Amino acid sequence: MPLDLPSRPRRNRKNAALRGFARETHLGPEHLVLPLFLHEGTGDLAIGSMPGCLRLSPAGVLREVEGALKDGVGAFDLFPAIAEAQKTSDGREAYNPEGLVPRTIRAIKMEFPEALVITDVALDPYNSDGHDGLVKDGRILNDETVELLIMQALCHAEAGADVISPSDMMDGRIGAIRGGLDRQGFTDVSLLSYCVKYASSFYNPFRDALDSTPKFGDKKTYQMDPANVREALRELALDEEEGADIVMVKPAMPFLDVIRLVRECTSLPVAAYQVSGEYAMLKAAALNGWLDERRSVLESLLGIRRAGADMIFTYYARPAARWLKEGWAP
Ligand code: PBG
Repeated sequence: MPLDLPSRPRRNRKNAALRGFARETHLGPEHLVLPLFLHEGTGDLAIGSMPGCLRLSPAGVLREVEGALKDGVGAFDLFPAIAEAQKTSDGREAYNPEGLVPRTIRAIKMEFPEALVITDVALDPYNSDGHDGLVKDGRILNDETVELLIMQALCHAEAGADVISPSDMMDGRIGAIRGGLDRQGFTDVSLLSYCVKYASSFYNPFRDALDSTPKFGDKKTYQMDPANVREALRELALDEEEGADIVMVKPAMPFLDVIRLVRECTSLPVAAYQVSGEYAMLKAAALNGWLDERRSVLESLLGIRRAGADMIFTYYARPAARWLKEGWAP
């Protein structure tokens, strides 16, 4: 005897065509941003805690961008590994017009004008303390740091960056950078704010990649407490008021509820960053044969999309784009 069931959700899953109609979330290469690690060296260097990612030489970057464009990934975020000798307590290399980042922006834009170039604004790669802001007597200064972030943003804009992305979590920096850019005529340069950025242990492999681990303390006086979610709305309101074009939640997988909340509370596009530690977890399990890399990576990205992210920064951007093209699904 069949059960007396008027509703049988399984009917909508009975074949691929119906599952296709019922599918609510789409993941494609157009949603992905590829972060790139840069260095001055002549060759590309492996990163121990991020197998499959490289610190790219200037020539390596152009090869990587070309390959990514072929894979269907059109947006890039630049992170420089700066030699210890170039780091200073005032982080002045951050706005050197001949520095690694502005030179790389110009090189990418010259060869691949269609590539969307995003740059990270924060002092940690350049600052001998390894903090995102200026340090005085063990404290991270806010307003003095913002002055330098404006100079860093202008340096990137002058080199041709499309989108500037402050990741430092200083108060007031979005409005101050917007004003600085506008006064110099860069009204078309977008601001993608790392709006809701948590003090997370999932950033450690990234700090290996750039040798940018803080020399003392942690980042808890500027990055958010992972216990908090109401505070995300406070940061969101400020960044909207100050002129952010896109707002980011970071990391992604441990904070899917926050992505969902931000998505529901703003009309701006929402970005999420699947950070280095999330990559490292997936990669380590895949290398051990514990997870099917293709399916689990695509499932993780689909989950971030379903939570509400319009764009996803991920070190898996190129392989994920290829797997999607090959017809793999989570
Ligand atoms: C620097 C910055 C960090 C990341 C992006 N920009 C590290 C940090 O805040 O310590 C992390 C990215 C990742 O882990 O993949 N302000």
